[in-house]
Amino acid sequence: MEHKKGREGFSSGIAAFLATLGSAVGLGNIWKFPYVVGENGGAAFLLVYFICIIFIGLPVMISEFYIGRKTKKNVMGALEILTPKRKWKTIGIISILASYFIVFFYSSVGGWVYSYVFKIIKGDFYEVTSQSAQDEFVRTIIGPIPPIVWQVIVVAVVSLILALGVKNGIERITKTLMPILFILILICDIKAVTLPGIGDSFKFLFKVDFSMLSGSVILMAMGLAFFKLSLGMGCMMTYGSYFTKKDNMMGTAAKVAISDTIVSLLVGIAVFSAVFSFEMKPSSGPGLLFMTVPMVFSKLPFGTLLLLAFFILASIAATTAMTSMCEVVIAYYSEQKGMSRTKAVLLNAVIILGIGIFATLSADAGSLLGKFTIFHMRLFGLFDFLSSNILLPLGGILIALFVGYVIPKEDIKKELSNEGKLKLDKLIDAYYVILRYVTPVLVFVVFLSSLGLIEKLIKLFH
Ligand code: PHE
Repeated sequence: MEHKKGREGFSSGIAAFLATLGSAVGLGNIWKFPYVVGENGGAAFLLVYFICIIFIGLPVMISEFYIGRKTKKNVMGALEILTPKRKWKTIGIISILASYFIVFFYSSVGGWVYSYVFKIIKGDFYEVTSQSAQDEFVRTIIGPIPPIVWQVIVVAVVSLILALGVKNGIERITKTLMPILFILILICDIKAVTLPGIGDSFKFLFKVDFSMLSGSVILMAMGLAFFKLSLGMGCMMTYGSYFTKKDNMMGTAAKVAISDTIVSLLVGIAVFSAVFSFEMKPSSGPGLLFMTVPMVFSKLPFGTLLLLAFFILASIAATTAMTSMCEVVIAYYSEQKGMSRTKAVLLNAVIILGIGIFATLSADAGSLLGKFTIFHMRLFGLFDFLSSNILLPLGGILIALFVGYVIPKEDIKKELSNEGKLKLDKLIDAYYVILRYVTPVLVFVVFLSSLGLIEKLIKLFH
């Protein structure tokens, strides 16, 4: 067999592609992408985002696939095989930490999304006004009990998928759900095209106005690219370790990056078309998904059904993405620590809930935990900040440097071309040059900026 005895893997190229896409497509596309694009002025931001996907996202993703499939191990095990130097283990440590930090707040937002599906079915979103949308969102995030219950439900669903294993759990669920997700998005877009705001929506997303570009907009776009493609935290490494030796890793990376971007754009078109049809502002921030969308959709014919479709697709996206974050640590616990998969899944669930609950409680600014801040951030924001702005860029730059400067080029060539079976010489050469000279420099800039250093420097020289 392709896989080492006892080690599971994806059964085909399509399965690998859908699972990886399931990781990339998540709340990032549906919750973050529209509001970040909305706040940063649309097309110009998008242009920078595309550049980041090509020069940072793709090279890092290919490198993660390389490490994973070459070694067929979890993050820590993979690095142990590839280098005796302990310092590179930092990549493994960052991966485990980042997985947890992300999942602590992601499971919270996932819980809100699940609860919206339930509330829409119950009829709570009939004739929504701006006030009632706001009240509903506040009720959703302050509990204290309901948001925790929803978080527990999300973690339970994800744990169940994980416990079923790589083939029967992750592969089966992504194979079934990703096509459904696409159909739901298309339904929303077919509706969006008939709305009066569709023209403005396209203009907003595709008419570039360079005056909107600023340093912080560029940096925001880079951060989003990392988060979107699940990079810099071992997720693509772990999934890569389940690829078969026949898969075309460069092809899969390109297909995932393109499809993920298409999903973001389709969601953006639907959301902005609805938003502009009712003369609302696209820049309403993180509440765009939870307040603006329900209000706008409820005004449309068949709006409640559409809203239901939209939140079901958000739940699917959140679930498959969260599953991939957790798989990083499940693979680590079971391979490095010798735990059974079930035990690893249980331990993981206990850790997520044990700490994640505090993130959920901190989302309510009025609560005791909400008043507790570190660097002016509540726990919820702190986990988001630590993972997206520090750990992912750090992981990304280390992965680029490790593959670009430590691994011999011949080995990379051999693995990416499936021992010469794929004729990818020119592409591999281009990837290698970008990986060594472009990606690390760009990521370094993102990293400094996310720590606020660049801004401080600019001010200093002004
Ligand atoms: N890519 C996911 C999203 O867009 C988030 C994610 C980040 C998933 C890191 C796995 C690892 O929502």
